[in-house]
Amino acid sequence: MKDAWGREIDYMRVSITDRCNLRCRYCMPESGLEMKCHEDILSYEEMLEILSVAASLGFRHFRVTGGEPLVRRNVVSFLERLSHVPGVDDLSITTNGILLFDMAEDLKKAGVHRVNISLDTLRPARFAEITRGGDWRRVWMGLERAIEVGFDPVKINVVAARGINDDEWEDFARLTLHMPVHVRFIEIMPLGQGESWADRFVPAREVLGTLMRMGEIRPVHVAGSGPAQYVRLDGAKGSIGVISAISQHFCSDCNRMRLTADGKLSPCLASGEEVDLSSAIRGGADREELIALFERAVLIKPARHCMEPCKKGEGMVSERKMYRLGG
Ligand code: GTP
Ligand code: 5AD
Ligand code: SF4
Repeated sequence: MKDAWGREIDYMRVSITDRCNLRCRYCMPESGLEMKCHEDILSYEEMLEILSVAASLGFRHFRVTGGEPLVRRNVVSFLERLSHVPGVDDLSITTNGILLFDMAEDLKKAGVHRVNISLDTLRPARFAEITRGGDWRRVWMGLERAIEVGFDPVKINVVAARGINDDEWEDFARLTLHMPVHVRFIEIMPLGQGESWADRFVPAREVLGTLMRMGEIRPVHVAGSGPAQYVRLDGAKGSIGVISAISQHFCSDCNRMRLTADGKLSPCLASGEEVDLSSAIRGGADREELIALFERAVLIKPARHCMEPCKKGEGMVSERKMYRLGG
């Protein structure tokens, strides 16, 4: 599908739950989560109906996210069914890795091609602090298992944050020398709880500057359809990427649409407009009506976001919640 700005929209990010088994400080409040109740959340059948319409309209890349997607019951059989929908050429998940060790093999068998794992530190105590109690070792075991069962590429998402992990960027980069992993440093976006890390924002070029001091780096291509730009250290098995969502946005190449767990199509991470598919599907809408709603969502996709780095005390640019939109 082409949007009003001539972009080809063929990447669907599907949040299957707003629940999570961690509480990252920049994402979730410690308490007081406004979770959707079960009836509001689309059933897997409803999602598959919507996603098969998406595939028939030319969407080819499907990324399943959350909250944490692996906490939703029967996620593996959902993914297996999704992988068989005609037109679904590239199926991936973004996970915090906590449940990955036990599930990696089944996910691979279900037809998932690629896994992105969120991991902001290599230090267990620091991880427990950032995530309010998460067990780093479980994520690490999950990551190793993901490589072992043959996911390729395996990407690590690191939200770059001053005073939190700036002393570890080189350690992360060194991982890529020996492990076939792609470490991506992400700029903090002013969404959800991003404001709590407002004064920790680091522009991607600063991370790259640090890494350039480690040795020669060359631009490289890594499979994926997202906004990261990659470089490789000489002789490394993996690569290093940056996602400069704020300092150098990539909206002109944006290929995305999002489906939230409660059945709203969200044309942009940063805009508040949504198209309600849930009411349509529960009101008995047929395929043609769903197609018309997709067309509307693609048409209202903005040219770009207007997010600035978070500033303390100024409130959020957007109240949008990452655990609802799935990043
Ligand atoms: P692939 O390239 O297909 O591997 O996916 P990805 O890197 O887009 O997926 P992932 O879920 O790992 O997201 C990585 C980071 O990119 C997260 O912090 C997302 O919030 C951010 N991101 C993903 N899509 C968009 C987008 O459309 N706009 C902006 N500004 N950020 C995005
Ligand atoms: N800014 C940037 N990235 C974020 N993520 C969650 N919240 C934010 C934010 N405010 C990341 C997670 C995960 C991905 C889906 O989004 O770390 O890797
Ligand atoms: Fe959960 Fe991801 Fe948010 Fe962390 S960033 S609390 S892992 S949804």
